[in-house]
Amino acid sequence: MIKIKIALFELENWEKDFLKSRLKGHDVLFFSKKLAVSDTNKIKNAEALVIFINSKIDKNILDRLPKLRFITTMSTGFDHIDVQECKKRNILVSNVPSYGENTVAEHAFALLLNISRKIHDSIEKTRRGSFDLKDLRGFDLKGKTLGVLGTGKIGKHSVMIAKGFQMNIVAYDPFPDKEFAKQHGFEYLKSVENVLSVSDVITLHAPYMPSTHHMINMSNIRKIKKGAVLINTARGGLIETKAILYGLKNGFISAFGTDVLEEEGFVREDKEMLYKSFKKQADLKTVLEDHILLEQDNVFITPHNAFNTKEALLRILQTTVDNLNYFLKKKSINLVK
Ligand SMILES: NC(=O)c1ccc[n+]([C@@H]2O[C@H](COP(=O)([O-])OP(=O)(O)OC[C@H]3O[C@@H](n4cnc5c(N)ncnc54)[C@H](O)[C@@H]3O)[C@@H](O)[C@H]2O)c1
Repeated sequence: MIKIKIALFELENWEKDFLKSRLKGHDVLFFSKKLAVSDTNKIKNAEALVIFINSKIDKNILDRLPKLRFITTMSTGFDHIDVQECKKRNILVSNVPSYGENTVAEHAFALLLNISRKIHDSIEKTRRGSFDLKDLRGFDLKGKTLGVLGTGKIGKHSVMIAKGFQMNIVAYDPFPDKEFAKQHGFEYLKSVENVLSVSDVITLHAPYMPSTHHMINMSNIRKIKKGAVLINTARGGLIETKAILYGLKNGFISAFGTDVLEEEGFVREDKEMLYKSFKKQADLKTVLEDHILLEQDNVFITPHNAFNTKEALLRILQTTVDNLNYFLKKKSINLVK
């Protein structure tokens, strides 16, 4: 095996241990901090870099690392890397295209089952010493219709989980995967509104971008089948918070389970949430509306934790090791363009 010099940044101790044991035989240099220009003299012979999104790789950094041939980022996004500049210098760049498909879908169902079987309320009651069943009647998922908005990697896992519960499924995606729908026996509808009007449970799995901003909003909230449950494990900006409050107050939504809030602002990478608290840039109106959401009995909020399982985080590290190993065999994988 060729021995190379690898510099690794933005790592916690357990991550260092994992990578150290898998990169034996290489000359490795670990840092907990992000890569800054001032670090380049310590790593100027580095041939490979491992980074997360806070290490900005630009011309300035690249000029100082003349031996660099490979960068792998422990993130899905790669806009912190000047990929064009890397191309000019024949430096390959890989990322982690996915790590949490089943993980986030499982969290969506954790939120849903909490609502359908009143798990939070039940536990609160027994903690207080009360074992009476008043107000604890739930509902079955079997036979209910699940509306999946966005059938990418996570949405597909939600479909497969829902099948296990014998739910009926409808979906909307501007790029429907008809083969997957055929395989799993569900139907794509023509619009978000069509899905809202027939679903007992709606789960959001679309990315946040201009076209999905406030996908659930004041104009379509009344289209939701009365009493439906809404689950959001995607991004806070998909939902107009004011519409949710209106929907809850007027019975369009019976309960809302969410892992994300508008107040978070634009979150690029979910794993970033392990290091940062809520961004302070949210506008006051949204902060107040989110605050009102927090106080509703039929709203259940988790703190952007859907991606956060042992296995998902290990998948990020394993993919990073795979990326490095493929690079060493001159057979790159997960290259970004
Ligand atoms: N809460 C968390 O911890 C967490 C973790 C990972 C991902 N996420 C979120 O989940 C989202 C989905 O992740 P993924 O890996 O499944 O992404 P993906 O890119 O595989 O799938 C997204 C799907 O949404 C579809 N889509 C685009 N516009 C749409 C619209 N207007 N209506 C309906 N569908 C639309 C796309 O065509 C695609 O099929 C991510 O973008 C991210 O915001 C959250």
